[in-house]
Amino acid sequence: MKLLDIFGALKKDMDYIERQLYRSIDGDDELLSETSLHLLKAGGKRLRPIFVLLGGKFGNYDLQKLQYIAVPLELIHSASLVHDDVIDDADTRRGKATVKSKWDNRIAMYTGDYIYAKALMQVSELGNPYIHRILAKAMVQMSIGEMEQIRDFFNTEQSVRNYLLRIRRKTALLIAISCQLGAMAADAPDKVNALLYRYGYNVGMAFQIRDDLLDLFGTEKSIGKPPGSDMRQGNITLPVLFALQEPGLREPLLREIRGIQAGDGSGEVSRAIEMIRTSPGIGKAEELADRFIAKALEALQQLPVSAARSHLEDIAEFVNKRSY
Ligand code: IPE
Ligand code: IPE
Ligand code: MG
Ligand code: MG
Repeated sequence: MKLLDIFGALKKDMDYIERQLYRSIDGDDELLSETSLHLLKAGGKRLRPIFVLLGGKFGNYDLQKLQYIAVPLELIHSASLVHDDVIDDADTRRGKATVKSKWDNRIAMYTGDYIYAKALMQVSELGNPYIHRILAKAMVQMSIGEMEQIRDFFNTEQSVRNYLLRIRRKTALLIAISCQLGAMAADAPDKVNALLYRYGYNVGMAFQIRDDLLDLFGTEKSIGKPPGSDMRQGNITLPVLFALQEPGLREPLLREIRGIQAGDGSGEVSRAIEMIRTSPGIGKAEELADRFIAKALEALQQLPVSAARSHLEDIAEFVNKRSY
């Protein structure tokens, strides 16, 4: 896997970002510091800060400035995960206990709020209202996406378009702006910022489709979080929607999903997952992820050849093959 190599190339700077990440949430209150640091210490891929730094390479790279974008983006991501684990009722994340399971839901809600607030404090260090607004807008879209997801739990009639709009909001936009804002803070040309945004958006779409596939195929050990969580809570993902389009499969799968929703023992998560895993829905979802990756690479082709560009190519490839 190449992600580690990319990380290697950025190691010194990413170590700095890591330290700033810890510093950004340390100190106000003992419990809040402990709960907020808990998820950060558990690791994670740190993809969003990596995108920020790579974006910065397309302009006047200045780590002192970029930190105020890289840190808030990872914080926003982290806060959304702390809240998401409450919604998912998940006990593990990044292979460790979630805040909601180690403490409780109330503590997790305020921990998430606190981390969001810290993200805003960090970005305000830049004193750039334009960047601030882009970040705030992405946060609004994420909230809408998460709400849409709740609204559409167990909605087996939703369209693929509906699913795509939802993952655009909840995942892809944050990744898109990670790429864009790094370049923007480095005063890269508008055209470059826009291409990086397009790259990030398409990688982000593939990223969430892959996450949804990993929820069906991964193990708790491999993905560090409980697999099958989407089906358990009625989150109808792309492979499920495609499986439901299969004439012979539609009725039995619908019965299973209805049974899971009823919670009366007439539906079984493992049975539903098995039906989807063996359906053509998997290949169709993978195909769509491939298409998003192809579009991401197409955007990259229009950027100047550089080490950063080739790292972004490697990340796109990693995202589409990832097993964690
Ligand atoms: C998980 O994101 C949530 C999604 C948007 C799918 P990541 O897979 O980037 O999580 P970490 O940060 O590596 O744990
Ligand atoms: C991404 O979706 C969650 C956020 C954007 C907060 P998931 O719900 O699929 O993320 P995981 O699978 O729990 O990491
Ligand atoms: Mg989740
Ligand atoms: Mg998931």
